[in-house]
Amino acid sequence: MTPSEKNKIYENIHLQWSGLIDVNVPWYSNLSNAAALLMKELNPWWVGFYLTRENYLYLGPFQGPTACTLIQKGRGVCGTAWNNNQTIIVPDVHKFPGHIACSEVSNSEIVVPIKKNNEIWGVLDIDSADFNTFDEIDARELEKFCATLSNL
Ligand code: SME
Repeated sequence: MTPSEKNKIYENIHLQWSGLIDVNVPWYSNLSNAAALLMKELNPWWVGFYLTRENYLYLGPFQGPTACTLIQKGRGVCGTAWNNNQTIIVPDVHKFPGHIACSEVSNSEIVVPIKKNNEIWGVLDIDSADFNTFDEIDARELEKFCATLSNL
């Protein structure tokens, strides 16, 4: 996929999401639709959210196969993104120290922290069956997407 094709997909995602997001319904309703939209438009192996509570991330709304339900802060890609307060692009999950394999099909991944009142509230996690799926365009556009979730 060319960068311009990828940018077009995200333009379409942002447009649809601006019509779908509803700050008057609970966060879980919005995150459920967010997962469905990202699954439809990006067609990854797995897309979903993990939400923080005390020292753990707990599985939230997602699309795809069943996944691990809790991840300790600092563990795996999700727990590391939380700990480091930064987006992590993993071109090959088998080379990421401590990667948590919820599915053996997954080969690359991106995790984007979601902030609420300046604190990390959760992470968006997207897994791909292919290697090298995610790049700086995904990071930038998914961070923009996650910024809209901070008002929920
Ligand atoms: N691979 C993630 C765990 C979550 S699943 O991919 C859905 C990680 O290492 O944190």
